[in-house]
Parts: sequence; C-alpha cells; structure tokens
Amino acid sequence: MNKTEAKNRIDKLKAEIDFHRYNYHVQDKETMAPAALDSLKNELFLLENEYPDLITADSPTQRVSGQPLDKFTKVTHSRPMISLFDAFSEGDMRAWEERNHNFLKRPLRAEYYCELKLDGLAINLRYVGGLLIQGATRGDGKIGEDVTGNIKTINSIPLRLRRPNEKELEKIGLEASDIKKIYSLIDSGTIELRGEAIMSNKTFAALNKKYIAVGKAPLANTRNGVAGSIRQLDSKVTAERKLEFYAYDLLLDNYERGEVIARRDQADALANLLGFKTLKQNQICADLEAVFHFYNGVEKKRPSLGFEIDGTVVKFNDLRMWNILGIVGKAPRYMMAYKFSAAQATTKIEGIVWQVGRTGALTPTALLDPVKVGGVTISRSTLHNFDEINRLDLRLGDTVIIERSGDVIPKVVEVLKNLRNGQEKIIEVPAECPMCGGKVIKVGDEVAYRCANKRCYAVNLRRIGHFVSKGAADIDGLGPKLIEQFLTSGLIKDAADLYALKKADLLSLDRFGEKKADNVIEILAARRELALERFIYGLGIRHVGEETADLLADRIREMLTDSEKEKGLTIEKLTKYFQSFSLEDLENMPDVGPIVARSIIDFWHDAADLQVLEKFSANGVSLKIEQSVLAPNSAKSPFFGKNFVLTGSLNSLTRGEAKDKIKALGGKMKDSMTKEIDFLVVGAEPGSKLEKAKKMGVRILEEEEFLQMLEG
Ligand code: IVH
Repeated sequence: MNKTEAKNRIDKLKAEIDFHRYNYHVQDKETMAPAALDSLKNELFLLENEYPDLITADSPTQRVSGQPLDKFTKVTHSRPMISLFDAFSEGDMRAWEERNHNFLKRPLRAEYYCELKLDGLAINLRYVGGLLIQGATRGDGKIGEDVTGNIKTINSIPLRLRRPNEKELEKIGLEASDIKKIYSLIDSGTIELRGEAIMSNKTFAALNKKYIAVGKAPLANTRNGVAGSIRQLDSKVTAERKLEFYAYDLLLDNYERGEVIARRDQADALANLLGFKTLKQNQICADLEAVFHFYNGVEKKRPSLGFEIDGTVVKFNDLRMWNILGIVGKAPRYMMAYKFSAAQATTKIEGIVWQVGRTGALTPTALLDPVKVGGVTISRSTLHNFDEINRLDLRLGDTVIIERSGDVIPKVVEVLKNLRNGQEKIIEVPAECPMCGGKVIKVGDEVAYRCANKRCYAVNLRRIGHFVSKGAADIDGLGPKLIEQFLTSGLIKDAADLYALKKADLLSLDRFGEKKADNVIEILAARRELALERFIYGLGIRHVGEETADLLADRIREMLTDSEKEKGLTIEKLTKYFQSFSLEDLENMPDVGPIVARSIIDFWHDAADLQVLEKFSANGVSLKIEQSVLAPNSAKSPFFGKNFVLTGSLNSLTRGEAKDKIKALGGKMKDSMTKEIDFLVVGAEPGSKLEKAKKMGVRILEEEEFLQMLEG
C-alpha cells in the first residue's frame, strides 16, 4: 500500500470506527460487535505505525496514549465555571421565583428547563475547528486543571464534533443565518461544551468487586470514583474506569447567550447533534407547578436511573434571560439546583460487628444508637474496611454524622471529634474470625483482613440456606441472594439472626425499599413458630436428615409434659431434653448408629451451637408440638400413648423392627420396668423383666398376641 492508499484507508477506518463508537457510547446502540471493531482499530493502529505522520489528533488510536504526567497544568477558563444556589423545598423554589420577580420588577411568566443534577465531576471541553483540543476540570471556577489526556479516554466524548446536516439543525428550530454561524464555529471557530463526567452504578459495582477481590480499597461512591479517575496522572487508569460524559451547557465563542441559540432546550438538542450524550429526562416546564411535578417524578425514578444524581437543576429556558438576570455573588440568578435532601443525623457508635464475606474478607459494620434519618430509623452503617475506620479515625463511643440519600446505604460521613470525652475506645481488628473462630490474617499490602479458613463463608451460607429450606423452616422468599446480602452486610451471622432483623436494618441495604423490607419481616414473623421436627432438621446437625429428625422429635414428644404438648416447647427446654440423652439412649433409637448418636450429642454440647440456640430463643422462636408425623393415625390404635418394654427375642421381628412398629402406632418404648409400663412384649429367653412384670401385674404380650395387636 502506498502512502496515498494508506491515507485513504486510514480516513475510511477512522470514520467507520467513530460511527460505531458514537452509536454505542452516545446512542446506546451496538452496531458492530466489539471484537470486529477491535479488529478495525488494530488495522488502523498498524497503518498509523507505518505512516506516523498520518496520525491525527482525532484518530481513535489517540484516546489512550502517552506517558503518565508528572503534574497537571493549569488552564484559565474562557468564561468562569460558576456554582449554583441550592433549594431543598417548594418553598425555596417559590422564594427564588419571587426574588427574580422583584429583581426584574415585573411579573414573571417564565418557562423553565428542568434537568437532572448529575453527581460526578464538571468538565469543560474546548473544540477548535471541530477538534477537541482541551479538557479541563472546574478547579476554583476560574482556573482548572488540564486533563485532556484523561478525558480523551471517555468514549462518549467525541474527539471531533459531529457535523449535523441542515435538516437536523432546522428541525431544532434554527434559521438559515444561525445554521451558517454554527457551521462556521464547527469548521473554524471555538465551541465549548460543559458537562458532567460520571460513573454508572454498574461500573462502580463491577470495579469495587474487582478491587475487593484483589484486596484494593473500594471506591467510597461514584463521585469519588470519577474524581479519582480524572484527577490522576496515568490516562491508562482512567480508560479502565469506563466513565461517561453528559453535556449540560454549550458556549459559542464570540456570541452572547441567546444570540444564536435562543433556548436551553435547543442548546441541549444541538449538543446532542454535535455528538454528545444529553439527558433524555430533561424537560421544559411551563411553570413552577410543572417543575414540582418533574422533581417528584425524578425522585421516584432515581433508584432506577443507573447513575447517581443529587437533585435537579432548574434553568430559565429563554437564554436571553440569562444575560438579564446575571450573577449574584458566586452563582447565577437564572438557574437553581433543586436538590434532594441528603438526610443526615448525628448518633453514637455503640459497637462494631465484623462480617466475613465470600472471599473471607472481614468488613466492619458500625452498630448505631438507632436514629431517624430521612424518615427511617437506622441502626447500622457499613464502614467498608478497616482503612475506612482509620481514615475517619473512628472510635467506639464516638458521635458521628451519618448520611442516607435515596436508596443508598447509610454511611458515616464525619466523626465529631470535639465531642469526645476520653472514654472512646480504639477499634481493633479481631484476632479470630467471628464466624468460624479461624485465624484472621492480612495478606501482603491488601487493605482487607481475611479469615484464613477458606471454607468459612460457604459453610455458613449453606447452613442458613438449609435452615430456610422447604423441609425445615420453609421460609419461602428468602432466597440465596438475600441470605448472601444479609451475610455480607453484617446483618446476620447465622439463621437465628434472621429473626432479629428489623425493618430499619433492611432499609439500610442496597435495593431495599419499604415494600421489600415489609415482605421479609412478614415472612419471618409467620415462621417464628416452627414444628418441632422441622426445627430439629433445620439445625443442620451432621448426619441428621429429615427422617432422623422425625425420630428425634418423636423421642422428645414422649418426654413432654401435657402442658408442653399443648402450649408448645421452649428452645431452652428442648436443649435440656437433648442434653439429657446419653450416647446409649440415642443408639437405642431405630436407625441411629454410633456416628449419628455422637454427632447429636456433640451438637447439643457445642458452645457455638448452644449460643445460636439461645439466640433462636431470645429472638422469639418457639416450637409447636403437632401429632407425630410418623404415626398419623395412631390415635385410634390400642398402642397409642401406651408404654412398652421388650424382653427376649422375637421370631418374626428384630428388636428394632418391633420398636418401630410400636412407635409408628403411637406407642412409647421404655427401657426398664416401672409402674408406668402398660405392656411387656416377651420373646424367647426373656430376662428378669418378665418376673418383675408379673409381680407388678403388667400385661404381658406373647409374640403371637403382640403380632395380632399390631395388625389391629
Ligand atoms: S449547569 C453554574 N446543569 O452541579 C454551573 N450543572 O452544584 C452549573 N451539575 O459544578 C452548570 N448536573 O458540575 C448544570 N444539569 C446540570 C448539572 C450540573 C450536574 C453540576 C455541575 C456543577 C454543580 C453545581
């Protein structure tokens, strides 16, 4: 390929690549598979390598380039990047309108353009002759920092302005003379676009997942994510962060506001035609009532937008009014940030719980003296990691400011150190894993502390999953995802903690609205009283499946007093009954061998297991005693409620089989002759029990009679 051919090919490749970039990153449409696009980019890269003098500033290969910078250079803004006045209520907005009314000394009938207030970082982009030549941060409003290399990595920012056709420009209401001016500015003038660089919630979550997995400190929020990405010196890092840019202002060099473009809605449409993303939610509102309606609608849609906003910005739609109203102090009269109130409150740190996540990482959660924030009572707040505790210099007993905005998890934003009284305690990382007792370690220079026991989290998750499963507590609706969310957020450590969940705790979680929280609380309340056998099964004692649990429940049932049978059994009492069993007692039960018996005994004497049982009890879980599942029709049988002892060996049944049959019909097996015994079943070579029975006048059943009775 000679140079002319190469240039032709390069021009075509650049246009094609940019077309698909624009479709994907600005229009949200994928018109070419990423792999194919990469292949075109690669061809372009190789050609440019061969003919370096054909590289242009707007080539897609120039998005990520160059060496990390030593520092940012300062740039002076062509027009200051001012700030905004804040309003938080309809009253504030009415007062604003009235102030403007007074300022203008005439009745105000203004049309407003209402926009979302993106929560990211303000950026000014300068295009000369259509080419992006500079990107700058706001800085102090007059002087910002040159971050061109970094913002070039943002795919929704065009390196060259799109040149709209006349029809498109006519459609947004521009006249021929204005259209000429626009073309002249694109071709040889200066156009500046201002807007917000943001990080979507999805990107934020994915990045943090990645960071946590490799032990890096997670980003505190999307705004910090953006600022940290743009204000760092290696553009390769910015590229990795997948930022987006939305334009919210358009400055035409040499023209006053309102001169070429009359209205804010037209400016938005033009920015879009020039190749930028604009917010499709933005709307013209005829008056303040319409503004309030817009604001309320946005607040409702806020959780599903996919990115963070902290309110709306209400602007005069007529851009000529911007010149008339002007600026007062540091902010303009012609627009207002109508914000959502980020609810804050002060409270005290009462404790810290350490949660063990999937990767074994220990995450601290602050236990708060419950406080109302934005209408809901909050009792916990995540602290992300130990570094966050250090960063805040947080101590037990500290008074802190917590903040909750929208559905976002409440967080500690500030420690009020002046309020300390010297009693505050330093928070330390536990030496042992709070979940499994394993060793807590710190790997290399990772931020996270981890439980060294690799299986810690998985085992716990499975145990809780087992407890809520159908054959056990049957808590329909508590799927593995929710359990994971509860576990990783530190709300629960075990199944017993489920019953201590409060609505306020749930509202402190991501994606938890009032309705979902109410549902979970209701489901749990409905399952607070559990059938004995289901509870035993749900405990997840090793080797105790549903059948063994049924048998054990039956065994317990035999021991109950009438009042316990009627009114139900406490967990303390159940524990006592289980603790009264010897290995032998258990081994005597049908189907219970030495291994199962050992495991049952171990469970009811294990300190950690007993603690969980105590928690079940403290959290109000009780047991109801229903008729034995093993002998559903036993009430009619002559065996029902009668006490049996067996001596000697039967011909047609083993001892175990005989016991099972008696129990299946509602009879109870006893080991020794006492006065409560109703029947002695006698086989060949009976022991001393026969003599005893005779003396006591207990009814004696020979094998044949016994079999007849069994058959009913
Ligand atoms: S208008 C006068 N429109 O809010 C400067 N700003 O609190 C405001 N922001 O620094 C420009 N969304 O970064 C405007 N739709 C929007 C906005 C918006 C977010 C940011 C902007 C500014 C900050 C002021």
